[in-house]
Amino acid sequence: MLRKRSLRARIISTGSYAPEKVLTNHALEQMVETSDEWITERTGIKERRIASPEQTASDLAYEASKQALKTAGLKPKDIDLIIVATVTGDTPLPSTACVLQRKLGAKKAAAFDVNAACSGFLYALSMADSFIKSSAFKKILVVGTEVLSKFTDWKDRTTCVLFGDGAGAVIIEPTEEDRGIISTHIYSDGEFGDLLLVPAGGSSIPASEESVKKRLHYIKMKGNETFKVAVKTLENLVVDTLKKNKLKPSELSLLIPHQANLRIIQATAKRLKLPMDKVFINIDRYGNTSAASVPIALDEAVRQGRVRDGDYILMEAFGGGLTWASALVKW
Ligand code: COA
Repeated sequence: MLRKRSLRARIISTGSYAPEKVLTNHALEQMVETSDEWITERTGIKERRIASPEQTASDLAYEASKQALKTAGLKPKDIDLIIVATVTGDTPLPSTACVLQRKLGAKKAAAFDVNAACSGFLYALSMADSFIKSSAFKKILVVGTEVLSKFTDWKDRTTCVLFGDGAGAVIIEPTEEDRGIISTHIYSDGEFGDLLLVPAGGSSIPASEESVKKRLHYIKMKGNETFKVAVKTLENLVVDTLKKNKLKPSELSLLIPHQANLRIIQATAKRLKLPMDKVFINIDRYGNTSAASVPIALDEAVRQGRVRDGDYILMEAFGGGLTWASALVKW
């Protein structure tokens, strides 16, 4: 009897895009009562990118996707499936993935969105991995894109200093080689949903004059409580992911964490006893871009030559929902 070779999903290319406009901590000092020193010490953020009034999540996704397609030497019509992770999509209906499909002219592709907040890209990657392994699709475009600036309360200093806009994309396809996505892990706990949310705009509190007046369409976060849960959860997540794959932290070439807070990233690295030069950090330039954060970081790591063939890289994220997720990849 013929033994079927096991299929793996492999990331064959990456791309990313961030809007041109840079908002520095010093500029924020003119907008709310804050300081460059406070923001830098508490978060590690120095500046973030802000979309123009006309730019939407699908516009950012389009730029990142075009780059990933070019790097892979593929045309939009080669793509079978588009998964977009976002919590700041163009409209509640249709999905941002369908808008992106139209903009790209990816006629053949099925398309849908995933909402898992900052963990969204890794949730989407996990699904794409399963679709490849089951041979349902051959070429999948996975995108994380956010225009958080349009959901940010620019009068609330506890949140407005944290977020930024951007998009990252990857293309994955099947391989029979000993490389690719080794394992993905996705988790959630809805009990903590009130730590990080946008209260209005859904069926719970539909848009009304009152909801706008009460500023309920903006992101609300209990920052300190979220911080504590994030540190504990991510520490356990990275340790478990390595354990499940019988890998020692020293065998990791690069940790690509969600960029929410430098102190959270440092705590995760410390738990793995990883030196910080094995941890990818760009939070200083982008802030927290939610679902876009991990794919932007991955794209920059690849373009900077920090990911080489055969390297083990670990990606992880934590976000609203609550949700958390990881992916171990052999490049
Ligand atoms: N500038 C100056 N002071 C500020 C401020 C700002 N932008 N924002 C808050 N403060 C003040 C607070 O009002 C508080 O003052 P008080 O002690 O007089 O009440 C003080 O700074 C400390 O606030 P706190 O919220 O306890 O700070 P923190 O050390 O927890 O840092 C965050 C705040 C938001 C940076 C941090 O909690 C965080 O990163 N949280 C998690 C983010 C995350 O992981 N999100 C999930 C994924 S998206």
